[in-house]
Amino acid sequence: MNITTEEQDGVWFKGVHGDCTRDVEKTIDPRSIDLIATSPPYKSKDGFSLYMMHGLALAARSALKKNGLIFLNIAQLTECPERPFKAMLCFLENGFKLRQTVIWEKSRIVDEILIGDDDKVRRNEDGDLVRAPAQRGHFQPLNSNYLVNYCHEYIFVLEKDTKQRRKFDRLAVGLEYSDKTNLTRGTRGKHGDLHCTGDVWWVPHATTGPTKSKNHEHQFPVEIPTRCIKLAGLKKKSTVWDPWLGGGSTAVAAKSLSMNFIGHDIDKEMIPLALERWKEV
Ligand SMILES: C[S@@+](CC[C@H](N)C(=O)[O-])C[C@H]1O[C@@H](n2cnc3c(N)ncnc32)[C@H](O)[C@@H]1O
Repeated sequence: MNITTEEQDGVWFKGVHGDCTRDVEKTIDPRSIDLIATSPPYKSKDGFSLYMMHGLALAARSALKKNGLIFLNIAQLTECPERPFKAMLCFLENGFKLRQTVIWEKSRIVDEILIGDDDKVRRNEDGDLVRAPAQRGHFQPLNSNYLVNYCHEYIFVLEKDTKQRRKFDRLAVGLEYSDKTNLTRGTRGKHGDLHCTGDVWWVPHATTGPTKSKNHEHQFPVEIPTRCIKLAGLKKKSTVWDPWLGGGSTAVAAKSLSMNFIGHDIDKEMIPLALERWKEV
């Protein structure tokens, strides 16, 4: 086990080259973590096991403050479609409660006719509707007669103690009303021009850009942990933990929101990679 620490702009980064279960007690004080935002290895060949998930759930119970939250991002796999649910159950079996499930929508194909937006619906010369599908985001096409393409992943929001609940700051991740008449209707406008974005987060996957810009093969977009931290309404200098650090997207989000950060990874190359990205924020 090896620890790298750095301080910048009044917050710290602690990167642990070590195991996310065995090396937690030695590196994280009990009840010192406000929030975990993470994405485990999905495939068995990359290190996924239910044994590891149970170990992490136990470690998280001790490391999190009473009102601590976990945002656990995990995708479905063809070889094991039930994997996200089995992984989440490991936390329930270790005393966590499932507060909510957010769907991270990575790519979308919409038919503008279905949206019903008259400005966007096109008609041909005879006045017939012209179907206008719009595709946004990136996915890997599946060549299958039995499955459709994967366009989403799960984000399970788990809480340690339902008697000490952390309130969501829903409008911290709110979106502007597109129809401004909402602002004067009822009490809707009392929080300004923002409304709750709901439980489906449309965030294009990081691999949409040139492959060269990928720091880590299975990296989630920084926008995902950013939304998690904002939604949890953490005060500045709270502590965020990513037990599966990877390329450090959570570290980047934490720094940009003035949070302290700790991350573990079994792959020693990930620590300098994540630190480099953290320093650049
Ligand atoms: C899906 S990636 C995390 C990606 C990260 N959320 C990001 O966006 O950059 C999973 C990471 O878990 C690490 N890992 C696998 N088994 C581990 C273990 N037992 N302890 C700590 N890290 C582990 C892998 O090396 C890999 O970097």
